[in-house]
Amino acid sequence: MNVTAAHRLSAQPTIDRRAFLINGGSLAVAAALPRPVRAADSATEFALVAAPGHASLVGADFPATEVWTFGKRVPGPELRVRQGELVRIVVRNELPEDTTAHWHGIRLPNAMDGVPGLTQPPIRPGEQFVYEFTPPDAGTFWYHPHADSLQQLGRGMAGALIVEEPQPVVVDRDVVWMLSDWRLTGDAQIAPGFGNGMEAAMAGRVGNTVTINGRLSQEVSVRAGERLRLRLVNAALARIMSLRFEGHRPVVIAIDGQPCEPHEPERSRVVLGPAMRVDVVLDMQGEPGRRYQVVDDYYDGLAYWLTEVVYDKSPPVRAHPFDAPLSLPRNPVLEPDLVDADRHELRLQGGMMGGGGMMGMGGMMGLGRGAAWAINGVSMTGDGHAGMPPLLTLRRGRSYILALRNDTAWWHPMHLHGFSFRVLRRNGNDVPHRQWADTVLVPPKETVDVAFVADNPGDWMLHCHVTDHQVSGMMTVLRVA
Ligand code: C2O
Ligand code: CU
Repeated sequence: MNVTAAHRLSAQPTIDRRAFLINGGSLAVAAALPRPVRAADSATEFALVAAPGHASLVGADFPATEVWTFGKRVPGPELRVRQGELVRIVVRNELPEDTTAHWHGIRLPNAMDGVPGLTQPPIRPGEQFVYEFTPPDAGTFWYHPHADSLQQLGRGMAGALIVEEPQPVVVDRDVVWMLSDWRLTGDAQIAPGFGNGMEAAMAGRVGNTVTINGRLSQEVSVRAGERLRLRLVNAALARIMSLRFEGHRPVVIAIDGQPCEPHEPERSRVVLGPAMRVDVVLDMQGEPGRRYQVVDDYYDGLAYWLTEVVYDKSPPVRAHPFDAPLSLPRNPVLEPDLVDADRHELRLQGGMMGGGGMMGMGGMMGLGRGAAWAINGVSMTGDGHAGMPPLLTLRRGRSYILALRNDTAWWHPMHLHGFSFRVLRRNGNDVPHRQWADTVLVPPKETVDVAFVADNPGDWMLHCHVTDHQVSGMMTVLRVA
């Protein structure tokens, strides 16, 4: 990963993670699952309460962190549902402010998308909203609020939503790592200062403590010879991650929930912008008794180890490496017609320049308060609101190519609600391995072409998932009519 000069200006971790590594305690990966209920109409039902709570993020030697939660814990409960089956999730709001829940990556009806003002009224304190949808695609998805996103996501409101394949790949264990990035004070509380204008115009609120499933992780125990399906979810506000598994060769089998051709990632790094998910298969071919680090070296000079994979001393669980196939069955996503597709360019604009000073925001229109970014000259700020004018109106059933052209000095993980798109080209070069995604990382000064069939009617958000960028203008709406 080339790190631009701009990165060095970003807010950087101020607390060494080791300060928080005093109390060992190995990671308990399997959080207790919420018990789904079968309703009379055979929907799988979950109840999720949005409420303040406490979480021990960095171990028992520090006070518990005051957080905001789904289901009184961080991350929120891992919801497991089945492809093609009706799900009902009742979200009750016990926060002191409005909220919603967005089911990130699920191709669902517009009214269930969780954007306040645009697709539903916000859920007021003391009220509830019933979400109901049938996930068409199997894969790794997640949920988070779409109201006051900086605070609500930044204080811990996020959870995994796993849609199980009828025939999953065969592995010994299926493990989810919800990766969250926190900016903690010395007494392990969430640092104030959400919405800092300087950060908004640069890398966003990058924190100082990265947790796996809500805990700073010392180690993860494994057995030699086992095969893991590891579902990585970047639930950070702003931090981009580039994970290297020392001594191991992860194989990517799905991106943002959508199966791809199984492949080893470039430079052996699994790169995850905020909101992105990658499923990897990891064959544990290390030596019994040894430890291997998992390192995130995305930001130049700021590498840290996320955890250590620790082998127990027992002999390998199998004599020969596992050789079951790694391909997942494809989801029922329509192939775009690339010959007949309409092409639109979306120019990502604004932010600080590499050397300081704002990028040509002068000529931009409709700048909301505190706008630092724009798409095609227009800044929509906040989390979504009623009557947002669509940037484009797409014809239902037609194929579209969006050229996401990054004119800024910063990286942007661009997310489209309601669709999965095919990632076609980066700077004109074909992207290998049949990659589909709902969030694509667009490097500075590069253009990424994505394509999809506009088969899902409604008003759909398209925004950067660096939350500070979204709320300060890098957001728009596409209408499918
Ligand atoms: Cu996770 Cu509007 O998105
Ligand atoms: Cu961005």
